[in-house]
Amino acid sequence: SASVERVDGGEVSVAGLGVKEIAEEVGTPAYVVDEADFRARAAAFREAFAGWQVYYAGKSFLTRSVARWIREEDLYLDVCSGGELTVALAGGMDPARIGLHGNNKSVDELALALSKGVGRIIVDSLDEIDRIEQLCAANGWRARVMVRVTTGVEAHTHEYIATAHEDQKFGFSITNGQAMVAMVRCHYSEHMDLLGIHSHIGSQIFDTHGFEVAARRTMKLLAQFAAATGTELPELDLGGGFGIAYTHADTPATPDALATSLREIVEHEARGYNIAIPQISIEPGRAISGPTTMALYTVGTVKVVDIDGGQNRVYVSVDGGMSDNIRPALYAAEYSAAVVSRASRAEPVLCRVVGKHCEGGDILVRDVFLPADIAPGDLLAVPASGAYSRAMASNYNMLTKPPVVAVRDGELTTLLRRESLEDLMSLDVGN
Ligand code: LLP
Repeated sequence: SASVERVDGGEVSVAGLGVKEIAEEVGTPAYVVDEADFRARAAAFREAFAGWQVYYAGKSFLTRSVARWIREEDLYLDVCSGGELTVALAGGMDPARIGLHGNNKSVDELALALSKGVGRIIVDSLDEIDRIEQLCAANGWRARVMVRVTTGVEAHTHEYIATAHEDQKFGFSITNGQAMVAMVRCHYSEHMDLLGIHSHIGSQIFDTHGFEVAARRTMKLLAQFAAATGTELPELDLGGGFGIAYTHADTPATPDALATSLREIVEHEARGYNIAIPQISIEPGRAISGPTTMALYTVGTVKVVDIDGGQNRVYVSVDGGMSDNIRPALYAAEYSAAVVSRASRAEPVLCRVVGKHCEGGDILVRDVFLPADIAPGDLLAVPASGAYSRAMASNYNMLTKPPVVAVRDGELTTLLRRESLEDLMSLDVGN
């Protein structure tokens, strides 16, 4: 990320603070966020998509401070549970600038959102529409809603994070007419204001093509709705999913390139269908939070293992693992790693960075070249760990979740403290 550099070719610093000092202060494993970089990425989206609304996807990483940064950078916020909504509100987000997602929102979550007056609820099923209507009728609330639609786009990403093909749980299909049915129901509901429609095609996508197809199909649906009802819906959300570079092999599109191509398509389609250009919003999560953060580990053991063909592989075990980053195990996600506590002139050797969990799939970085003199006590950083790492962390093997600290102008602040064993034991109320 922007302000990670090696001081005098040796130790790495983040935003002016050396990693050894960070490790001394908060221990490892830890996630280290470059606050200025986070804000700059938020601002870059805001500026590239000027006139549109940028909803930061809180699921990628959210704390009270992050909600405050998002508010101060003048973005909007997408949450997908009552828990995320609670953090957003605690961070001072204006409810009107929050959107609530989820394919199975509970009555409590809907009630919290409606009572706080969130700006929009993205509805995902007919059951949910029933629930919202009942809550509104009983409490005198009004719901501002968008209908989540499935555009049929086959996004080129891991199956678990592709969401616009037909055979998956999210949204109402455009193809079979269910989207129109849901839109008509919301539009004529006495308790709802239908703002528009929402499409999210998947995550960690590099190619702008999928977003472009989704934009065309959603614009067409808005035109069909206008023709059927006489109402031009004012809003369209094109979701998130913009990829980032985890390794040098990754080449994501810039916010500017995305904005230019999407703007052109939306304007072109609006002209073609002779409808007004809707207010567009997008929901980047990873592209804002991901690159801003490194996971910092301490090397504990180094083991040379024989592999096929008379070759060796060096297994470098660190003090975290799949409980603080499940992505390699879950999606075969690739990362890079570097020794950051010192420079080394030793030749690079092929290593596998693994965690301390009791299973063989506990791999953080499958193949990476690290200096041959790597040794216990070295600090190892895994960059691009800001999205879906701490957010998806678990307590597998009773490990405590690592802290998240932010560095700004050489000053460290803790966003999330390290969990303690007492925290975990306090949940164990059996005898
Ligand atoms: N909007 C909606 C409706 C979403 O479902 C998501 C992500 C986003 C926005 C933000 O997507 P992003 O810009 O961060 O890619 N755990 C997976 C990613 C799951 C994403 C779920 N939805 C991973 O670690 O890759």
